[in-house]
Amino acid sequence: MFHIETILEKKLRKSMEDIIEIVICLGSSCFARGNSGVLVEIERFVGEHGLQDRVLIRGSRCEGACTEGPNLRIAGIPYRNVRAADIVPLLSRTLLQVGHPDE
Ligand code: FES
Repeated sequence: MFHIETILEKKLRKSMEDIIEIVICLGSSCFARGNSGVLVEIERFVGEHGLQDRVLIRGSRCEGACTEGPNLRIAGIPYRNVRAADIVPLLSRTLLQVGHPDE
């Protein structure tokens, strides 16, 4: 099959490349360990920084690392044992590039 990418498809592909995906595990183990609070903090951070157009938040059923939860991934990078209090420094570093990577 032959397909020529349209201008609209190019714009859509480019805009998708600029979107950062956050996948939060909402499986029972991570949920019991506190990911509901983590999700609230992520949504609050994204809203406060006007990042709604740059960040896609979605849930997963299990990340295969239940004993290390709560788990989430940001742009494909897994983060384990994440607490609600970790969200502001983590998202500042990953979404706003504030602070040092090893903080
Ligand atoms: S429930 Fe979150 S990793 Fe399994």
